[in-house]
Amino acid sequence: MSSAASSSSASAASPAYAAGIDPSAGALPFRAGSRAHSVEEAILSRRSVRAFRPDPVPRALIEEILAIAGRAPSGTNIQPWKVRVIAGEVRDRVSRAILDVYEAEGEAGFKPPYNYYPVKWRDPYLARRRKVGWDLYGLLGLKREDKAGMHRQHARNFEFFDAPVALIFTMDNDLELGSWLDYGMFLQNVMLAARGKGLDTCPQAAIANAHLVLRRELGIPESENIVCGMSMGYARDELVNTLVTEREPVGTYTSFLGFPA
Ligand SMILES: Cc1cc2nc3c(=O)[nH]c(=O)nc-3n(C[C@H](O)[C@H](O)[C@H](O)COP(=O)(O)O)c2cc1C
Repeated sequence: MSSAASSSSASAASPAYAAGIDPSAGALPFRAGSRAHSVEEAILSRRSVRAFRPDPVPRALIEEILAIAGRAPSGTNIQPWKVRVIAGEVRDRVSRAILDVYEAEGEAGFKPPYNYYPVKWRDPYLARRRKVGWDLYGLLGLKREDKAGMHRQHARNFEFFDAPVALIFTMDNDLELGSWLDYGMFLQNVMLAARGKGLDTCPQAAIANAHLVLRRELGIPESENIVCGMSMGYARDELVNTLVTEREPVGTYTSFLGFPA
């Protein structure tokens, strides 16, 4: 690219920048029903939405989102992702089956299929995890001692936060660590492509913890690892969706080497 071309494209302000939004300062404010029109807007308006309107999402729209997301890169193009999209009666049956286990056995009824989180928590990760947890519960008015309230809020995962569509992501279990890396790019693409269509999402490890129920209800074979779930739909205008999660400034995790001072 010529320097003229690169400088003119660099100076073309994206809608997010034009609106005076500095990505390092935070996410775009929540606007139910908003739709992203640029990459920056998609990234900055994506958040984990935990209250959806029940309005159905057309199958063709989800197919389009997945087709876009499938353009994600993967080492030697192996494309490790497998997706089950559930709606209607199937979604309701899966949700009920998971809730039945949760109501009968609580968290003990679920075993993570793989260690998504560290086995031994330590700072700074523990502090960040606690912060987002208490920020969420604080927004919902839940106090530390309100175990029943927290149990109810966790159960919202299994109702897919009322979203009409849930996606169950799996991957063949003979694939290696690199495929998990590829998978993350695909998942992020799904969430960003959804923003471009006015849809929102919540990625959910909690759903993967119900892998035994999912296997039974959806006939998922042992040869596939359940990676995670994801709720998808149109965001409801609710307080829980206004949660703004923090991010570390670039300087705390980046070293620039060899640049002019
Ligand atoms: C793979 C993955 C699994 C997650 N699992 C859950 C979950 O089970 N339940 C939930 O409410 N949020 C879940 N989250 C959302 C995170 O809490 C959220 O991404 C993080 O706090 C940053 O907030 P943001 O997504 O709104 O930017 C998950 C996120 C990812 C990437």
